[in-house]
Amino acid sequence: MNPRPTVLWVFACTVLLVAGCAKDEGPVIVQDTIDTAYFNTEVLPIFTLHCWNCHPVSGALDLGASEASPGVSQAYVNLVSVVTTGYAPHVRIVPGDPDASVLWQKVTGTGTYGLNMPPNGTTLSAEELQTIRDWIEQGALNN
Ligand code: HEC
Repeated sequence: MNPRPTVLWVFACTVLLVAGCAKDEGPVIVQDTIDTAYFNTEVLPIFTLHCWNCHPVSGALDLGASEASPGVSQAYVNLVSVVTTGYAPHVRIVPGDPDASVLWQKVTGTGTYGLNMPPNGTTLSAEELQTIRDWIEQGALNN
């Protein structure tokens, strides 16, 4: 009997076995291309730090973290898709469209809608602005 075919079969089966195993194993790599911005843990703290002293619970625009309803802050309820008091019919935050959002125009100092925010001589950092912009662009979710 010629041993060659047997050797070839063993070789072929080994290749198939290894290939089969390689296909089933190994980590699944999920590429995260979007840097998600979170409202409650990233955006809201910016408002608490830079805005809430002038926009407190008792004021016309409460930018605080207290709950308006379970899991939803006053800041969120008062901003997203809410028409401004000073610049109607323009809206404070337009989900998906920072440039159409009065808040974005105010924090970037365009002067389009009254005073820049904050109006006390300080400005938000580039990183804080990017977080706010990302969050609005990603749909201004209560995430
Ligand atoms: C030093 C006080 C002060 C601080 C700090 C401040 N604001 Fe204001 N904010 C005002 C005043 C006064 C107005 C009303 C005049 C105007 O619209 O320019 C106002 C108006 C606004 C309006 C328009 C509301 C409407 O419906 O007309 C928005 C939105 C706003 N502020 C967002 C912010 C944000 C966001 C921050 C923090 C980054 C901030 N403000 C920080 C005093 C302040």
